[in-house]
Amino acid sequence: MTTIAELHDRARQRLVPEYYDYFAGGAADETALADNERAFRRLALMPRVLRGRADRDISVELPGARASMPVVVAPTAFHRLAHPDGELATARAAAAAGTVLIASMAATVGVGEMAAAARAVDPGAALWFQLYLQSDTRVTETLVRRATDAGCSALVVTVDSPVFGRHERDRRNGFADLPAGFAAENMRDLPGGRRNIEMTPMSWEHLDRLRASTSLPVLLKGILHPEDAHLAIERGADGIVVSNHGGRQLDAVPASIDALPRIAEVAGGRVPVLLDGGVRRGSDVAIALALGAVAVGVGRPVIWGLAADGELGVRQVLELLREEFDHTLALCGGQGPADLTRDLVTVRGPEGG
Ligand code: FNR
Repeated sequence: MTTIAELHDRARQRLVPEYYDYFAGGAADETALADNERAFRRLALMPRVLRGRADRDISVELPGARASMPVVVAPTAFHRLAHPDGELATARAAAAAGTVLIASMAATVGVGEMAAAARAVDPGAALWFQLYLQSDTRVTETLVRRATDAGCSALVVTVDSPVFGRHERDRRNGFADLPAGFAAENMRDLPGGRRNIEMTPMSWEHLDRLRASTSLPVLLKGILHPEDAHLAIERGADGIVVSNHGGRQLDAVPASIDALPRIAEVAGGRVPVLLDGGVRRGSDVAIALALGAVAVGVGRPVIWGLAADGELGVRQVLELLREEFDHTLALCGGQGPADLTRDLVTVRGPEGG
């Protein structure tokens, strides 16, 4: 397999069709889903010449972790529907790649087991834990404790999901929940006996409470409005993930990459800004970095790798992105991520340049 697109094709052939639709699909008309990828095609890089270096270093410093490249694994649910090894395979592959795995609260393997699998590959493997704040604060606290005990070095609070997105493919397929034999393992034995993940409107005060209850860095995932980026920083967020949830929540939103520049401007380097949504090539990573991200997350590409070939497939996805990003950096005349500056990005077409 030489591209993520090929791994996607292979995954499509291998997956149960209803599961494929669950992973691939977006909300409503899937406009945001499609635009996430298309928006990168509307942008171009203007390389600089006669200043390249052979000793490139693409590693990046992130909250609670150093990553070998500016690509991390975005949190996605239900990996055991893609491959029997599920999140264990994903955790091993991310550790082997030396990058951060953001464990999903809705994983089909518990965060403790994921961390153990990652650390068996690399004792220094970094994991973050993704969290939807729950209205019962005891549930949130228990989850934070589990993530902390597992050695997660940051929390990623997903804030774009006051309600579930309208996943019309799933409705058509009658796919509403995990099939028998699978469970959201982080949700076992919680106070109040709840097993399901609640999506419910939360406030900045809930976030304040979370921040007061943990010493871990807290990043907010799912910010698109610059004013929310401003509020997040004011309230002490340790990082922002610009994301439209892979087009799975509100369909009428812009592509993540189109929302990034204004948020990077608001952040002004005070906190790291990450981006996810539509990243399929190393050149997409370079464009996102040039527009102000310190790193990007990949969601579906990891699932395609997992479905295509388990741990090896995920490794392949991450190594493809590493190779392609380093190659793009070389062609742009850069030595490291910091050389990717905003002036390198232009829009395609006659108005560009
Ligand atoms: C997701 N995403 C997600 N986000 C989150 O915060 N918690 C979660 O449990 C999930 N689950 C999930 C499942 C599936 C099948 C997908 C495709 C996505 C969103 C994810 O973290 C990320 O924002 C997007 O996947 C990024 O877009 P790409 O890389 O898939 O284009």
